[in-house]
Amino acid sequence: MSNGGVNQGRRRFLTAATCVVGGAGAVGVAVPFVGSWNPSARAKAAGAPVKYNLSKLEPGQMVTVEWRGKPVYVVRRTQEVLDDLPSLDSELRDPGSEESAQPEYAKNPVRSIKPEYSILLGLCTHLGCAPMYRPDVGAADLGGDAWKGGFFCPCHGSKFDLAGRVYKAVPAPINLEIPPHRFDSDEVITIGLDPEA
Ligand code: FES
Repeated sequence: MSNGGVNQGRRRFLTAATCVVGGAGAVGVAVPFVGSWNPSARAKAAGAPVKYNLSKLEPGQMVTVEWRGKPVYVVRRTQEVLDDLPSLDSELRDPGSEESAQPEYAKNPVRSIKPEYSILLGLCTHLGCAPMYRPDVGAADLGGDAWKGGFFCPCHGSKFDLAGRVYKAVPAPINLEIPPHRFDSDEVITIGLDPEA
């Protein structure tokens, strides 16, 4: 093998790498790991709806689904969680979700189509960090007995309940956003589409 062959290969690599960087710059969008994405992942990032099968999600669990390059939290709430939600209203900034972003079909006391499932955009409404799922009732670092489970943003300390409703006296101004979504069946949801009329 000659040195020329090696250099030629390296030149080809550099040319290819430059094209990828140049292409991303041309459209002005930062797309991480573009080289390793498959076409369907690129389509999702561009805005295609995403399906998720709920059948493996146990009560109390949360899963993160990527939609339009953003995290969507899907939480299966227990009956205890649902029973606790109304008791939190006096501690929340907007318990009735009057000022918050959600589809009309999710503007209700549990902020969801089916009470068992909470579907939220996993971006803090302060400056966009990803809040951590903290379902541990009574967590000492989050208020002890008053904490009924929810989300804690590690960036500046905002707290949300398990309907994504923001607590008072934290930096986040409004509740977590709810993306459009629908149930295709009892077990399958589509994020990114409204329910069919
Ligand atoms: S980004 Fe969440 S509290 Fe600031």
